[in-house]
Parts: sequence; structure tokens; C-alpha cells
Amino acid sequence: MVKTIYAITAAVLVTALFVSAVAWVVLRPAPSANVVEIYHWWTSGGEAKAINALVDVFKTKYPDVAVIQSPVAGGAGYVFQAVIKPLVLAGEAPDAFQMHAGYEGKPYFDGGYLDSITNLWKDEGWEPVIPKVVRDMVTFDGNYYAVPVNIHRVNVVWYNKQVLTSNGIDPTTLTTWDALFAACSKLKAAGVASPIALGDSGAWTDTHVLEQIIASEGIDFYQNWVNGKVTSATDSKLLDALTKFKTYLSYVNTDHSALTWDQAIAKVITGEAAFSVMGDWANGEFLVANKVYGTDYGTFAAPGTEGMYGLCIDCFQHPKGVKHPDNSLNWLKVVGSKEGQDAFNPIKGSISARTDSDTTKYGLYQKAAIADFKAATHMYPSVTHGSGAPTTFTAKLNDIMSAFVMNKDVSAAATALTDATKAASADYTTVWSL
Ligand code: GAL
Repeated sequence: MVKTIYAITAAVLVTALFVSAVAWVVLRPAPSANVVEIYHWWTSGGEAKAINALVDVFKTKYPDVAVIQSPVAGGAGYVFQAVIKPLVLAGEAPDAFQMHAGYEGKPYFDGGYLDSITNLWKDEGWEPVIPKVVRDMVTFDGNYYAVPVNIHRVNVVWYNKQVLTSNGIDPTTLTTWDALFAACSKLKAAGVASPIALGDSGAWTDTHVLEQIIASEGIDFYQNWVNGKVTSATDSKLLDALTKFKTYLSYVNTDHSALTWDQAIAKVITGEAAFSVMGDWANGEFLVANKVYGTDYGTFAAPGTEGMYGLCIDCFQHPKGVKHPDNSLNWLKVVGSKEGQDAFNPIKGSISARTDSDTTKYGLYQKAAIADFKAATHMYPSVTHGSGAPTTFTAKLNDIMSAFVMNKDVSAAATALTDATKAASADYTTVWSL
């Protein structure tokens, strides 16, 4: 009896193994399967909708190629960076991955992990239609190594129009941090518990706000900062910026550390909060919530940065030795194309990286952003979003800011920031002239 049970069990197991093996052979993707695999961190409502629109353009052009999206949640790529680096270093890079322009690509270039795509740039005719400021940020040693899909503006304050109107606050008067903070005090007195929305479960959002305050200290100061020249912990502008950020924090929601950036923006959308400093990917969230720019919500430049355009530029590249090199290049063609960019950016909140975009496809916020970009007196590369400073510096930034949000110690943060700059001094190889 026992023997029979063993025999039946063994037969069942062998059959199951056989069926699984056949299923694996039949169903597994062939190594040469016609796919393109792309990694990115676009998982919020607006972000996911935008990348899907770009993928749709690719699918209409290359219907035989299956697109595998591998999204890694976490705004600004703060989780993504830890996932992608080991893959690239192990020779397992996907066919293309999201990357910021500027310094973020440098370790990959230095390590020889990227192929030059200068020929693609020439063949696709991108040079004449992509502004020099953007081209320079995807160039290493005179060759192109990435394709920009957009230009995001980082120095933007988003506000709920109804909350301001019903409290008699005119957003056009909020041109200094003091004026913004006075408006916050007024709102608090009127019962708005947390006038500013913050979601810093990924500490990059703290760094993001500090960065715009640093820009408001003047373009010369910002330039010094990204050139690695702010090295004194008693620098009056650095201390002033941190002090202003401390005041900013006194108006934010108590649950900030549990929230993501888009959950914070949701508070502005619903009117629970009045303001939030965030890049214009926030526009994508207002749009998916069916809010109307100028009616439900509005924006103004972060106080003191009027006329400046803080740049965050998303790119893709052609890693060396990818599994589907032709599909990788075809993906880049769509990323850099007018059609691809005009499908992606109106949803994403950014403007096209191309000067020949069809502006009729863009909403009111972006039409204003296109005009502001053209009229900008200064453009500055975001440090929070990978472009402005070496990765050896930015790798420490979020930890420093997390500590600051906890202890509010201005002098300790100034020391930590300037120490990080000094430790990375050899890596400040780009000389920014803003
Ligand atoms: C930025 C990225 C944007 C946006 C944002 C929030 O770093 O460049 O495309 O998605 O993070 O995730």
C-alpha cells in the first residue's frame, strides 16, 4: 500500500515536472525575442500616463516589438538609482533606462558603460532643434551619450486657487519668501492647519525645496554652489537658505515623512493645503485629477527666482552590449522625435526638449512655461535631479536633509553640506557659467 502511494506520488511529480518543463520551453521568451526593455521611475498617476503615451508612439512605429516597462517606484529615482547601477555594472543593463542629463550619466560614461550616439544625433537631425544648454548636458568628451525627452522646471510653487481666493491672498504678491510665509501665517490663523504640503518619505523633496531657496539667494551663489565653491559652513547665504527652509518646514503637514511627493500634491489639489514647491511633473497630477490651470490651480516662480528656469531633464541612452541593440536605438529615435515628445510632455507637465514642438498640443501651464523658458534670464541645473553636481556629492545630500528636517540644526546642516562639497572637490569637473 505504502509502496503504491510512493509510486503514485512519484508519477504525479514526474508528470508535473515534465508539464512545467514543456510549459517553460513553450512560454519562455526566446533570447532573441523582439522586445525592448526600458527601466524608469514613472509610477505616479501623471507619470505613468505620460510614459504609456510615449510607448504607444513607439508601438505604432514598431508594431512587432514588445515593450517591457520595468518601473521602480520612488520619485526622482531615489530608489531606482540603487537598482540600476548594479545592473549596469554587472553588464545587465536594460536596452535603455531613465537618466538625468548632466553629472548623473558621468559615472556610466567614465566606466565605459555607454555607447556614443553622436551618429544617431546627426542622422535624426536633433542638433538644430535642441537648445545648446540641453545638448551640453548630454555631451561627454565631445560626443553625445543621451537623448533628452523633456525639460522640467523645478522652481515652481503650486497653489490651490480657491484656498487663496477665499482667504484674500493674491498670489502675484508672493514674490519673497517672507511674503509667502506671511500668507501661510494668515492661512493658519484662518484654520488651514498646514498651508504647505510636503511629502518627504523620499528625502529628495526636502533637498528640492532647499535647492530653490539656494537659487533665490542669487544666480552667482547658485553657480558657486554647483561649481563646488560653497565650502564655508559660516557662509551667510547658505545659512540664510537653511534658515528659510526651516521656516518653510514650520508650515508643513505633520504626516510629511509618511507621504510621497504626489500624495503631497494631492493635498493642494483637494484644498487641504494651499501651496507646495515642486517641479512641474506636479502638473501631471493636477491634469489626471481633471483640474483646470487658472481656474482650480495656479503657479508662480519660487520666491526670488522670477526669470530663472531651474532645469531637470530626463533622458535615455544606449548602454553598451544591450540585448536588443536595434530596438534600443529605435526607442531613442522615438524619445527624441517631435511626435514622441509631443505625446509625452503635454501629459507629463514638462515642455518638449525640442524648439519645434507643436505648442497647440500643450495646456495653459505649459504654454506659459514655454514662454518663460524662452525669456529666462538664467537657467540652472538641478542638483536634486542629478544634473548640477557630482554624484559623490549628491549621494550624501538626502541624508543630510533628512537629518535637518528632524533636528532643524542650521549650523550642523551647513557643516555637513560644505564637508560633502569638500570631500567631492576633485569631482567638480564641469564649470558652470549660469
Ligand atoms: C524627477 C524626474 C521627473 C519626475 C520627478 C518625480 O527627477 O526627472 O520626470 O518624474 O522626478 O518622480
